[in-house]
Amino acid sequence: MKAIVYTQYGPPDVLQLMEVAKPEPKEDQVLVKVHAASVNALDYRRFEKLSVMGRLMEERFIKSAGKILGADIAGRVEAIGASVKKFQPGDEVFGVAAGSKGGFSEFACAAEHHLALKPSNLSFDAAAAVPVAGLTALQGLRDKGQIQPGQKVLINGASGGVGTFAVQIAKSFGAEVTAVCSTRNQDMARSIGADCVIEYTKEDFTQNGQRYDLIFAINGFHALSAYQRALNPRGNYVCAGGALSQIFQSILLGPLVSRIGGKKMGFMGIAKTNQKDLMDLGALLEDGKVVPVIEKCYPLDEVPAAIRYVAEGHARGKVVIQISLS
Ligand SMILES: NC(=O)c1ccc[n+]([C@@H]2O[C@H](COP(=O)([O-])OP(=O)(O)OC[C@H]3O[C@@H](n4cnc5c(N)ncnc54)[C@H](OP(=O)(O)O)[C@@H]3O)[C@@H](O)[C@H]2O)c1
Repeated sequence: MKAIVYTQYGPPDVLQLMEVAKPEPKEDQVLVKVHAASVNALDYRRFEKLSVMGRLMEERFIKSAGKILGADIAGRVEAIGASVKKFQPGDEVFGVAAGSKGGFSEFACAAEHHLALKPSNLSFDAAAAVPVAGLTALQGLRDKGQIQPGQKVLINGASGGVGTFAVQIAKSFGAEVTAVCSTRNQDMARSIGADCVIEYTKEDFTQNGQRYDLIFAINGFHALSAYQRALNPRGNYVCAGGALSQIFQSILLGPLVSRIGGKKMGFMGIAKTNQKDLMDLGALLEDGKVVPVIEKCYPLDEVPAAIRYVAEGHARGKVVIQISLS
């Protein structure tokens, strides 16, 4: 089969389209013929310039060479392992590919509990856009953020992969949603349900006197003290990503701030792949309450260009890799 293989440390151009052996599903795995995959931040992080120590770690210990990247997949079940109960060949599924043999390839294996049936109203392209970004938005808002109907919720980084899901999921919980994005994305943010849009290039939401019950910070940098100021007295701040300094502040200072005031602040951790949440997302997609926003699609051999584009940090929604049409 054809796959995009990470050959050595370097820029995304080190990824090469190669002929490799088709993976065999383990006992609890499903072999999926991949119709589409999508790009996430975790796909480009390894191409960011590493320190000498980081590079040494990568080459000596992490040893990524030979890996196939790409977590999100959507496709058709080709074969199942002996203990798989919920899927059979021919089923259309979406989810997260297993470990080092990822979704930028014609076939990928996934654990049975990391897949769900693809909603019938969704194309493979749209389904491939969902898993990592959708799970991050759902778990950040529902589990860490404890979102409630009627709450005032602000999403910072609302126009990206995670953010476009977060706006729609927050609306599905009955929240009043403010989306923070740049000028070029404000119409899109409104079209997916944002009640109010703040252009971060023109206004600093941490300085305008508005207060929110829940702030979900996905992209862009503000100091923890600025987020604290923008929260209602019992408000909740959840950091999902963004600048490294923002993540570190949330991890190190968030728990301290939470202990001394009524406000809760912290990092959500890494989103966990599980079938129940994929099915919850599937129900929202089936009902049309969430519609994936896809800015661009690339063929398999253009994965390096797709990764370069997402790594620039201004993708509108998701970038999809189209692999097989039949
Ligand atoms: N915790 C987890 O498990 C988890 C999972 C997935 C992702 N993440 C993290 O979440 C972050 C975002 O991921 P993503 O996939 O959504 O990224 P993405 O798709 O690359 O996000 C791009 C978006 O960010 C917006 N943006 C850039 N600078 C901004 C700023 N200063 N203020 C507000 N918005 C800004 C851009 O909007 P404009 O073009 O309008 O500027 C663009 O639409 C990454 O840091 C990633 O590592 C965490």
